[in-house]
This record gives sequence, structure tokens and C-alpha cells, in this order.
Amino acid sequence: MLRTAASNAMRLGASRATRALSTKNADLLPPLKVAVTGAAGQIGYALVMRIASGEMLGKDQLIDLNLIETEAGMSPLRGVMMELEDGAFPLLSSVTATSDLNKGFGDINYAMLVGASPRGPGMERSDLMAANAKIFAEQGKALNTSAAVNAKVLVVGNPANTNALVASENAPDMWEEQFIAMTRLDQSRAQALLAEKAGADVKDVDRVIIWGNHSASQYPDLSHARIGGKWAKSIVKDDKWIKDEFIPRVQKRGAEVISARGASSAASAASAALDTVRDLHLGSGDAWQSNAVVSDGGYGIHKGLWYSVPTICKGDSHFRRVQRLPIDDFSAKMMTATEKELIEERDAVRHLLPGHESKPVSWNVLESLQTSFEEGDMKAVDEIAKELPAQFKKGVKTAKAAA
Ligand code: NAD
Ligand code: LMR
Repeated sequence: MLRTAASNAMRLGASRATRALSTKNADLLPPLKVAVTGAAGQIGYALVMRIASGEMLGKDQLIDLNLIETEAGMSPLRGVMMELEDGAFPLLSSVTATSDLNKGFGDINYAMLVGASPRGPGMERSDLMAANAKIFAEQGKALNTSAAVNAKVLVVGNPANTNALVASENAPDMWEEQFIAMTRLDQSRAQALLAEKAGADVKDVDRVIIWGNHSASQYPDLSHARIGGKWAKSIVKDDKWIKDEFIPRVQKRGAEVISARGASSAASAASAALDTVRDLHLGSGDAWQSNAVVSDGGYGIHKGLWYSVPTICKGDSHFRRVQRLPIDDFSAKMMTATEKELIEERDAVRHLLPGHESKPVSWNVLESLQTSFEEGDMKAVDEIAKELPAQFKKGVKTAKAAA
């Protein structure tokens, strides 16, 4: 790692690219590896500083940061490296800059896939499909080869849901649940708008749901939302506002920011990416967090699409879907409309989907594996392992040998 950073630093012409810290301090956890693609871009710039400060993985967690950019992005990345160095972040164990995906994703625990073109004024996110989806096919392959066995991948680059599908399909040995597309920004926007309408504090708003695609077809749903523990709809008492203002405003907030800023949202997107991974890693109690994850067929949604649903994050780096919520007719219609768009997007990138229909889609299998292992039932472990993707089979073999 240190050698990697040093050689890249030489290539970049930087004087010092890696700061090694003493890990002897017993209060600090050994480093976790985080990769960020597009690290010199608008979101990347805001994101890496906050990761380095410990806001994402905790103030006691050392971090090895792998910054991945295109060849053209290497020069601005050199400046980002300098600023990371000048920040003297005590938790930053090492920083590596590279345009080599296998190096950048080598043994990483978390990958934040930001690098992709943003849309400009007048464009829809789906207009980015042709150029951006290819990037995620390549990155999926490299993650499959190089990432740690239990790595988690957050896709931020647009069109995020379909890019996550493409990345996962190109990583045949990884679980589909290892890939999440970001809809947390939409959730935060919805929470803020509801809080403003109700004259409440945003921290008191919960159970707002984003269903479906991170696009104008998404369905921001207040059916289950609460303010200070009370049903939000009984506080707001304004269905017309919900239908005519709240929903379209959240759906089109990305475009509203682009038209005002002349560039797509960056600091708020970085914040939402950080919130997503922080909740996965450290947990957020019983709070519901919307994440676009592979559909397991719940709520009648087509299996295998990356569809945003409410999830609960307990801090073990997994999510659990909130299942079997009651869905009224209006919600069902909205949920189907955004599902239809995701099917169309999937069909537009079929050429990038090698097709691994038999990939397992449930963490339940992994949980049974762990329980059998803990109970010392190696016969059951072997039975379950037969059904696992190759990368996990390797992990089971290693764990058995070490047991
Ligand atoms: P940006 O143009 O400022 O930065 C993108 C960076 O990615 C650039 O530095 C570029 O060199 C790099 N890049 C491009 N291709 C790459 C590749 N193959 N590998 C590594 N790096 C690569 O854009 P931005 O504002 O940071 O936005 C990045 C993406 O995030 C866009 O697609 C944008 O639409 C999306 N976005 C998503 C959300 C969301 O909620 N999911 C929110 C905001 C923005
Ligand atoms: C956003 O929601 O702000 C981003 O997805 C950028 C965009 O294109 O809207």
C-alpha cells in the first residue's frame, strides 16, 4: 500500500502522497479500506475530506483511502491529495491515487462509485445511460476480482439504479446485496420539505420513503411518515399539497439545483453518500433508510431491478428490507410507474448484462451459514456453501481451515 501510494505520488509529482500513522494506539481500530471513484470531481472533493475526518466510519476507525480517477483526472487529483495531506487527518492511515481499477479496489471494504458524467441543464438522468453504464460494467469486473469478500458498494453516479445493476451483473462472484444505489439524497430532500411544511425540526421527521428509481419517476411517499412520532399526514392535513407540490418537488429537486447552480448537487450528494455508508457501518437503530437495492420480489416489484425501498441498518454493514407495509391504490400506481422506467432502463443496457440469473439474492443464506458455523455444524456449512458464489466458497474454506 505504501509503495503504491509512493509510486503514484512520483507519477503525480507530489512530494508526499502517503502519511503513515502509528496504529499502536489501542483506541484506534485497524484500517478499513475505502475506495472513491471520481475523487477529483465535485462530489468526490466534498466526500473524501469528510471520510478522512472520521464522519463516515467513526472517530476511532483508521482509514486507507484509495482515490480512483481517469488519466485526465490525475492532475486535479494531485491537488486533492495535497489537501488531504494538509488536513493532517489523524485517522487517515494512507492515501493512494490510481487510475488502475484493480489496484484501487484491491481488498477494499467499501467502494463509493461516484465517477461518471453528471447531467447538464435540460437533460434527464437517463440521457447519461450510454456513456456511464459502460464505466460500471468495467468497475463491476474489477470489484469482482479485487475487492474484499464482504465489500459493500455504493453507486452514486447516474443513472444510479441501473448502474448498480450493471456493476452487480458484471461481478458474478459477489452478492447482489453488496451493491446499493443511492436514493438517500431524495430521502433527505423529502424529510427537509416535510419538516418545513409542518414547521418541525428535520430531526423529528422519520419513515419518509423513496420508492423506485433515482429519477423524476421516483415516488416520495409520506403514507408512513412521522413527525415527533405522530402520523405526518394527520399533522399536515393537506393531501393536495402532498400530490401537487411535495411529490413533484422532490422528484425534480435535482433539476432545480442544476438550474440554480449550473452544476448538479455536490455537497448534499456527498453528505447523503456519507450518511448511507455510515448507517450501514455504524447502524441507525430502527430508523428507516431508503436505499435502492436488488428487488427480491417484495411489494410485487420485478425481481432483479435495483429499486429503492425502506431498509433498516443495524450496523453490521448489511441492510434489511422493511417488508409488507400496507400500500394504498395511489401508492401502488406510483410504485408501478417508477418500476416501469427501471425495466426500460434495464432493457436499454441489456448488452452490458452477461446474465447470472442464479445469483443468490438473500442474506438469509449467509446468516444460516454463520449460525451453522457458530454451532460447529460443518455438515450444514458444507451444504450451504455448495450454493454460494465462488468468492464466498473461498471464504468458507479459509474460515474452516482457521477454525
Ligand atoms: P464531476 O464531473 O464533478 O466529477 C466526476 C468525476 O468523475 C470527474 O473528476 C471525472 O474525471 C471522474 N470520472 C469520470 N469517469 C470516471 C471513471 N471511469 N473512473 C473514475 N473516475 C471517473 O461530477 P459530480 O458532480 O461529482 O457527479 C458525479 C456523478 O454523480 C454524476 O453522474 C452525477 O449525476 C451523480 N450524482 C448522483 C446523485 C445521487 O443522488 N445518486 C446525486 C448527485 C450527483
Ligand atoms: C441529483 O439528484 O441532484 C443528482 O442525481 C444530479 C441530477 O442529475 O439530478
